[in-house]
Amino acid sequence: MSVSPVTVTVTGASGQIAYGLLFRIAAGDMLGPDVPVRLRLLEIPSAVSSAEGVAMELEDGAFPLLDSIDITDNPDVAFSGANVGMLVGARPRSKGMERADLLSANGAIFTAHGKAINNNAASDVKLLVVGNPANTNALIAMNNAPDVPNVRFTALTRLDHNRAIAQVVKKTGAAAASVRRVSIWGNHSASQYPDLSHATVEGKPALDVINDREWVENDFIPTVQVRGTAIIAARGSSSAASAASASIDHVRDWVGGTAEGDWVSMAVPSDGSYGVPEGLISSFPVTCAGGEYSIVQGLSIDEFSRARIDISVNELEQERNAVRELGFA
Ligand code: NAD
Ligand code: LMR
Repeated sequence: MSVSPVTVTVTGASGQIAYGLLFRIAAGDMLGPDVPVRLRLLEIPSAVSSAEGVAMELEDGAFPLLDSIDITDNPDVAFSGANVGMLVGARPRSKGMERADLLSANGAIFTAHGKAINNNAASDVKLLVVGNPANTNALIAMNNAPDVPNVRFTALTRLDHNRAIAQVVKKTGAAAASVRRVSIWGNHSASQYPDLSHATVEGKPALDVINDREWVENDFIPTVQVRGTAIIAARGSSSAASAASASIDHVRDWVGGTAEGDWVSMAVPSDGSYGVPEGLISSFPVTCAGGEYSIVQGLSIDEFSRARIDISVNELEQERNAVRELGFA
C-alpha cells in the first residue's frame, strides 16, 4: 500500500540548521523509511535564491522519499497543508541590539507565522519552534493561532537533553543508550535545569553511579546550561548540526513514540504540572505515544530541584510579560 506524502514546512531554509535538517528529513530519518515527504521551504526574499541552491542539492541527493520541494517567501503558501512545521528561521541578535529589540523583531516574525499556521496548516499539524528565544517564540505563534490546539506548539530542548546525556557518558564511560530518564526543565537558555534526580545509567540511579555531588552541581549543570555559548565561542557560530539532529529526534519521537521505560525533554504548553503556570511553554520530561506527548507525572521534586525549576520558570514569565508589553502575546 502506498503512503501519501507528509507535508513538512521548514522556515529559515537557507540557514545553517536547515542545511543539516533538510537532508535528514529527505532521507527518512524523521518520519520513517516508508513515508514520502513534501518539503515547503520558507525564507525571507533576500535568501530565497540561497534556498533554491539548497533545493538543487536536495534534488541531487536523489532521495527516494522526497516527493517535491516548494520554495516561497510567503508564510501562507509555506504553511499550506503543513502536517509538520519546523520553525527554525528567526532574527539573530545583532550588534547593539537590546533584548527588547530582539523580542520585538522575533515577535513580529512569530506573530505572522502563527497566523499563517492558523489559516493554512493541516488540521493535524505538529509544530516545533527552534529559532530563539524558542520557548517564547512558540508562545507567540501559539497565541496567534487560536484555531490550532495549544498542545501542537512545542519548542526545542531536546538538544539540551542530548547534551546532558553526553556529559553523563563522558563522566561514567557508559553507552549513550544506557543513560535514560534525563530531564530538562524550564527555558532553552542558561537558566534551564538539567536534572539527573530520576535518571538511570545501565538501569541504576545515575546519581549513585556518578557518586559525585560536587560534579553534578558545579560541573554537569553549568556545562549543559552554557553549552550553546561554548559552541559559539569555539566555532564562531551557533550549534547547527547538533541542533538539526535534536530537531529530528524531537519530531521523530513525537510522531513515532518514545522508547519503553524512557522519556525525552520537550518544551510544551504547561497544564500546571509541577507548579509551572498554565500556558507557559516550558520544558518537561515527556513520553510520546500515538502521536501525542504526555508530561511525566508524579516525579518527586526535592528542594534543590524546586529552586532551579523556579528560576527558569520565572525567566519564562518575565519573557512572557515582556512580549505582552510589546503587544505580541
Ligand atoms: P541562520 O542565521 O544560519 O539561519 C536563519 C535563517 O532564518 C536565515 O537564512 C534567515 O534568512 C531566515 N529567516 C529570518 N527571518 C525569517 C522569516 N521571517 N521567515 C523565514 N526565514 C527567516 O541561523 P541558524 O544557525 O540556522 O539558527 C536558527 C535559529 O535557531 C537561531 O535563532 C538560533 O539561535 C536557534 N537555535 C536554537 C537552538 C535550540 O536548541 N532551540 C539551537 C541552536 C540554534
Ligand atoms: C544553542 O543552544 O546552541 C543555541 O540556542 C545557542 C544560541 O544562542 O543560538
